[in-house]
Amino acid sequence: MKKTFYITTPIYYVNDIPHIGHAYTTIACDVMSRYKRMKGFDAHFLTGTDEHGQKIQAAAEAKGMTPQELVDKIHVNFKELWKVLNISNDDFIRTTEPRHVRVVQAMFKKLMDQEDIYKGSYEGWYCVPCETYVPESGMGGNRTCPDCGRPLTMMREESYFFKASKYVPQLIEHYEKNLQGVMPRARYNEIMSFLRGDVRDQSVSRTTLKWGIPIPGDEKHVVYVWFDALINYATAVGYLDAPEMFQKYWPVVRHMVGKDIIRFHCVIWPLMLLALGNNVPVSVVAHGWWTVDGEKMSKSKGNVVDPFKMAELYGADAFRYFLLREVPFGNDGDFSESALVGRINSDLANDLGNLLNRTLQMIVNYAGGVAPKGGGDDPLDAEVRALGEATLGLVDKTMETFSYDEALKHIWAFIGRGNKYIDETMPWKLRKEDQGERLNAVLHTLYEVLRLSALLTAPYIPESAEKLWKQLGLPGSPLTEKLDDFRWGEGAGTKVAKAEVLFPRIDLEQWRRGQVQPPSAPEATVEPEHEPQIDIEGFRSVEMRVARILKAEEIPKSKKLYKLEVDLGYEKRTICAGIKPFFKPEELTGKRVVVVANLKSAKLAGVESNGMVLAASTRDASGAAESLALIAPTSDVPLGSRVS
Ligand code: MSP
Repeated sequence: MKKTFYITTPIYYVNDIPHIGHAYTTIACDVMSRYKRMKGFDAHFLTGTDEHGQKIQAAAEAKGMTPQELVDKIHVNFKELWKVLNISNDDFIRTTEPRHVRVVQAMFKKLMDQEDIYKGSYEGWYCVPCETYVPESGMGGNRTCPDCGRPLTMMREESYFFKASKYVPQLIEHYEKNLQGVMPRARYNEIMSFLRGDVRDQSVSRTTLKWGIPIPGDEKHVVYVWFDALINYATAVGYLDAPEMFQKYWPVVRHMVGKDIIRFHCVIWPLMLLALGNNVPVSVVAHGWWTVDGEKMSKSKGNVVDPFKMAELYGADAFRYFLLREVPFGNDGDFSESALVGRINSDLANDLGNLLNRTLQMIVNYAGGVAPKGGGDDPLDAEVRALGEATLGLVDKTMETFSYDEALKHIWAFIGRGNKYIDETMPWKLRKEDQGERLNAVLHTLYEVLRLSALLTAPYIPESAEKLWKQLGLPGSPLTEKLDDFRWGEGAGTKVAKAEVLFPRIDLEQWRRGQVQPPSAPEATVEPEHEPQIDIEGFRSVEMRVARILKAEEIPKSKKLYKLEVDLGYEKRTICAGIKPFFKPEELTGKRVVVVANLKSAKLAGVESNGMVLAASTRDASGAAESLALIAPTSDVPLGSRVS
C-alpha cells in the first residue's frame, strides 16, 4: 500500500485579491506535495476559499452585491492565480458548497447532542475585521485589536459555546508525545504555554450576522466563521460522504499556516477533533510573514506584492524559487524585486542555466549529441557521484522538517559542484589532447549531474525542470519520476535535444530603467577551447601595434591569403593574412588595424610574412573561419601605438 500524505493551505478570505502571503503558503504546499509524490506517496493537496462571515458580508455591502455574488466572483482570482503559479492542488474547496455546509451542520449537531456545545450568552470586545473577541488582557492601547490595530466594538449576544476547556489536558498530553505536532519549535513552545494557561470555552455562533451556515434547529444563529472554516479540512477528504477516503487521509495531514493563525489551528481545531472523537493532525507548520522592502505590506502604503505581476515579469518558477530560497521557513522575510532579480541571475541563470548550456554544447560538439557511457575510476567522478547520491538523502531530511531553503542550498551546492567539475576537468583540453575515454567519462558525469538536478529541482521549478528534462532528451516528465528509483549512470546513451536558455539573465541596467520585459535570451555559446593561463609578463611579450594597410594583393597560389603592405609609422613591412574570403582588396586599403609586430617571420605561400594582423573569428567544425572581423582602434591613434 502506498504511503499517504495530506497537505492543506489555509482557506483564503475572498474579500480581497490574492497577495504574496497567499502565494507563499500555496507554493510551499505545492512544492511539498510534488516532492512527496516523487517520493512515492499518495499525496492529496487541498486549498480553497473561506467565504462566510462578517468580512465578506461587509465587503459585499460596500460593493452593492450580495455576499453570494461577491464570493462567486472573487474566488475565481485564487483559482486563476494557482494556474499561473503552477499549483497542483487536487481539490479546491469553497465553504459555501453544499458538501461543506452539510459537514459543518453535522459536526455542530453531534457536539450539541453530546453537550460539548451549549447555549449561553457572550459579551465582550470584538474585532469585526478579524472576527474575533479580544480579552481585556490582550487589547492594544485605546481598546484596539492586538492584531490589526483597529478599534474594538462591545458586543453582547446569545451564543453557543464549545467546551474547549474540557479537552485541553488531552491535547497537552498529545503534544507532549508529539513534538512535531506544531512546527517550528518556537511555535510549539508558544502553543504549549498557551494551552497551559487559561483556555476558555469558545463562542461558536453569531446572531449578529446573516452570512453564515445556519445552526440546525436554531436558525437565528449562524456558525462562527472560524468554526465553519476549520472544518473544511475534514469535509474535503470525505468526512461525511466518503469514509474510506477520510480514513486514508486522516490524520496524516499537515496544515500549513501563517504564524498569525496558529491558535485556531493548533488549539481550537484539535480540541474540536478530540471532542468529535477524531485524531489530531500530524503537524501544523507555521511560516513567517513577508514584509516588502523592509516595510509591513498594506493597501494604504500601496506596497502589496501582486503575485500575478511577479509571475508575468519574472516567470512563475523564478518567483517560486525565490520565495522558498530566500528565507528559512518559519522566519519572517523581506521581499524586494532587486533580491529576486539577484537570485534569478546568480542561482538560476548562472549556476543552473550555465551548467546546462555548457554541458549540452560539449555533448553535441564532442560526443555527437549522445550522453556517453562512463568509464575509468577517476576519484573526481566518484566524488561528484557520491555528492549527488548524498544530496538525495540531504534533501529528504530537510524536506521532512519543511526546511525548504536548506533543501535548496543542498541542491545548489550540487549544481555548483557540477560547474566546478567542468573547470577542473577542462573537457576542451581533453578533446585537444585526444583523451577520448576520459572526455567521455567527464561528459557522462556532467549529464548525470543535470539529470539528477532536473529531478531534485522539479518540485520547486516544475516548468523549468520539465524543459531541462526535455533538453536532456529524456522522455516524459521529471515530475512523474520516483526519486528513489534514480540510479546514477542510467542516462548514458540518451540523445540530447536542442539547447535552449532556461533562465534568461536580466540586464540590470535595463531593469533599473524599468524595462524588465522581455529579458532577451542570450545566444547559446559554444564552450571555447581555453589556453593555459599566462602572467602579465607573458602578455607583455607580445608586441601589438597599430598599423595602416597600404595595399592588399592576391597571392596566386593561395585561396585564403592576401599579401598586405602595412605602415607601422616607424617602418613599412609585408604581412600575409588569411582574410581573403571576407574582404575585397579595395575594402582593406587605408584601414587601421592591430598587428603583432614581433612575430618571427615565416614563409606563407611563398611570401615572407613579418607579423600578424589581428582578427576575431568564428570557426566551423573543420576549423575554417566562418565569419571574421578585423580588430581596429576606435579612433585614429598614431601608427605604431602600442596595444596593451
Ligand atoms: N480565512 C482565514 C484562514 C482560515 S483557515 C481554516 C485567513 N485567511 S487570509 O486570507 O486572511 O490569510 C491567509 C493566510 O495568508 C494566513 O496564513 C496568513 O498568515 C497569510 N498571510 C497574510 N499576509 C501575509 C504576509 N504578509 N506574509 C506571509 N503570509 C501572510 O486567515
